Amino acid sequence: MNARTDYPRFPAGFVWGASTSAYQIEGAAHADGRGPSIWDSYSRIPGKVSNGDTGDVACDHYHRYAEDVALMKRLGLDAYRFSIAWPRVLPDGRGEANEAGLAFYDRLVDALLAAGIAPWICLYHWDLPQALDDLGGWTDRRIADWFGDYATLIATRLGDRVRHFATFNEPAVATIFGYGIGWNAPGKKDRAAYYRASHHLNLAHGTAVAAIRANAPGAWVGAIHNLQPCWPAGPSEDDKAAARMQDAHWNRLFPGAQIEGAYPPEIERHVASLIQSGDMERIRQPLDWFGLNHYSPIYAKAGPDEPLEFTWTDAPEGVEKSDIGWPIRPDAFRDQILEVHRRYRLPIYVTENGYGGPDAPDAEGRIQDDKRIAFLDAYIRAMAEAMDTGADVRGYFVWSLLDNFEWGAGYGVRFGLIHVDYKNQRRTPKDSFAWYSRLIHAGRGA
Ligand code: FCB
Repeated sequence: MNARTDYPRFPAGFVWGASTSAYQIEGAAHADGRGPSIWDSYSRIPGKVSNGDTGDVACDHYHRYAEDVALMKRLGLDAYRFSIAWPRVLPDGRGEANEAGLAFYDRLVDALLAAGIAPWICLYHWDLPQALDDLGGWTDRRIADWFGDYATLIATRLGDRVRHFATFNEPAVATIFGYGIGWNAPGKKDRAAYYRASHHLNLAHGTAVAAIRANAPGAWVGAIHNLQPCWPAGPSEDDKAAARMQDAHWNRLFPGAQIEGAYPPEIERHVASLIQSGDMERIRQPLDWFGLNHYSPIYAKAGPDEPLEFTWTDAPEGVEKSDIGWPIRPDAFRDQILEVHRRYRLPIYVTENGYGGPDAPDAEGRIQDDKRIAFLDAYIRAMAEAMDTGADVRGYFVWSLLDNFEWGAGYGVRFGLIHVDYKNQRRTPKDSFAWYSRLIHAGRGA
């Protein structure tokens, strides 16, 4: 597919990036003193991850980061967003730091800087140290301070070279899927645990923002939320009420507390007994940017007896979907960006957006991922439309740089611009890699 040349003009300084996360790419699960995370444990429970896949080896990025940074440079990235594995730097989640783990992130940051790529660090992309989960994990209020200490460690160590920090990736996924619905680690389906985890995660966010600012002066601090319009599965009033409930949990619980200083009314009564004096002030810290992840709209149907008072459901028949069944609606992306702009008034970085499919090399070894290119093209245009309408979007990070461990879907679902052959760890740029590279360069020329 040819690169389109009629791209909307993006402002000078617009950041073009790619995102990954630690558990999904690093592998080296037992190397150099790394402790286990809840995803190491969860992926070993039979039936939880397709094909019994685990992140033990993943893309072996821990050992191959130099090759991966060289590919990023070839791609032309301005920025690379990755996460720190908490259990790699603090094997027990607290207490003594693991120097070898910290040294890995030193090497990675230095390699990125040498390649002219800005490192964007996310502190938490779901890989909670197992030792902390053993104490109750996010349901234990003390975790706000443990997370604050971890943030201090990272800001102190890397803040001399890294400017962009995010506290959490998609807190709603960590808590709804981890504690409310049971689709992700630690796999609980427990209403009380879900609300405790949510409030404590918010406290941890606020604590970490303050810790980063105290230890890395000049840091640009944000948080990353996966916001998706919530649509009723059917026309009934009950389904409409379910979609509003899904929206409260998925889209408003975390940004509401973190930016507006209040829980949505639908959530308030469930968390009231957990809120201690001073909590909301501790959670609501000034932020420098809003990280928006977005893939598709989502659907709900009535489920008043479910832990979260709605039932998550697939898109109805007749909706255009990706290879993995996610609805394709660039207009919903445009509207979501505008909603974030209107509501939170922060500079927006799209920190994830991408297309998952089965991608395999053809007889010549080429990976022709035309559907991914068409998806990215439509979504980037939708973002440009939102910008034309006034949204302050400053950057776009594609998910993902590499094919990787896609949580419960294991390695069968591929999101990368770069194909990974898991038998030999060979990296092969897909057609979308060349396409994105041309887009970045065309944008710079403008
Ligand atoms: C997001 C996650 C990311 C990846 C993509 C496909 O929700 O943050 O790790 O799994 O979905």
